[in-house]
Amino acid sequence: MNASTTKRLWRDLPRPFQVLAPMEDVTDTVFRRVVAASGRPDVFFSEFTGVDGLCGPQSQRIGRRLQYTPAETPIVVQIWGNNPENYATIVPRLTQMGFSGVDINMGCPIRKLTRKGFCSALIENRSLASEIIHATRENAGPLPVSVKTRIGFRTRTTEAWIGFLLEHGLDALTVHGRIASQMSEGDADWKAVAECVRLRDQLAPETVVIGNGDVRSQAEVARRVEESGVDGVMIGRGIFENLYIFRRDGSSFESVPVIDRVMALRRHFRLHRRQWGDRRNYHALKKFVKMYMGAGDHVADFTDAVLHSRDYAHGAQLIEDYLASLRNGKEVAGNETDG
Ligand SMILES: Cc1cc2nc3c(=O)[nH]c(=O)nc-3n(C[C@H](O)[C@H](O)[C@H](O)COP(=O)(O)O)c2cc1C
Repeated sequence: MNASTTKRLWRDLPRPFQVLAPMEDVTDTVFRRVVAASGRPDVFFSEFTGVDGLCGPQSQRIGRRLQYTPAETPIVVQIWGNNPENYATIVPRLTQMGFSGVDINMGCPIRKLTRKGFCSALIENRSLASEIIHATRENAGPLPVSVKTRIGFRTRTTEAWIGFLLEHGLDALTVHGRIASQMSEGDADWKAVAECVRLRDQLAPETVVIGNGDVRSQAEVARRVEESGVDGVMIGRGIFENLYIFRRDGSSFESVPVIDRVMALRRHFRLHRRQWGDRRNYHALKKFVKMYMGAGDHVADFTDAVLHSRDYAHGAQLIEDYLASLRNGKEVAGNETDG
């Protein structure tokens, strides 16, 4: 790894760049590989992974969440936790694993975690947030260090909190335009994101700012960049409605032939089986079915059947049968041998 080039990940990306948001139980290596083949973002993130777990007896099992393939690069590893020593211990290992950057989660609003002071609760514990960032930066070697956060915890504290973070020499900062207590309610406030860009210009011109919240199309990426001045946009739930959202030509979900979407679903099933075997519950795969198939009447019977399938073999057979029926008189586009 070349230290000077790695450190530059964020700075060298095209402007504006696009990032697939970290999403627990969604953006694992399997989904990221399908996204990479369907319409890739400029940067991927891992799901958030606890530093305490990575330093404990279950580290091997937990570390499986961090597996990735070259197709998913550049990939930033996202970590969370409250013990700076564990960051100091684990970050050098993450560096060795070839990640392109380390991101610290200071934005997750889930009560189970914030009750114990984790993630977005750090917005209200600046001294610990500072210690965590220092421990990470001191041990990250050539890796750029970033933070993903919100614009406040119980109330909006954009200027104070983001200004504080910007004093830490971060390589990048992702701002989700909501406060933690909002969870996913209401609209993301992109005016607040624009304010973060202004703060960055004054306080830390070297820090790259990524805006996040409610972006659902390429047209919206362009609009949000224009309005706020962010360097890049992170998209999360928008990919649930359009797997092809990162295609720069603005392809709509409906413009992609059903057969291609079924092939993507098949690829996901196969990769999942190969990656996780029986270690992950088959039924957890089902949440992806609607993502690939959409809600149209013409796919409803198939979607319904897969959602009611008993196990992997049953689901996979339904997919093969549906593909066979679609192929009647139709050429299959894409790479069938894949996955
Ligand atoms: C199912 C799900 C899981 C998420 N997991 C994470 C996570 O692991 N780390 C993180 O920083 N944010 C996580 N988020 C928040 C997203 O990264 C993103 O900030 C949020 O969804 C807003 O962006 P969007 O409107 O584009 O979805 C998650 C969101 C969802 C819906």
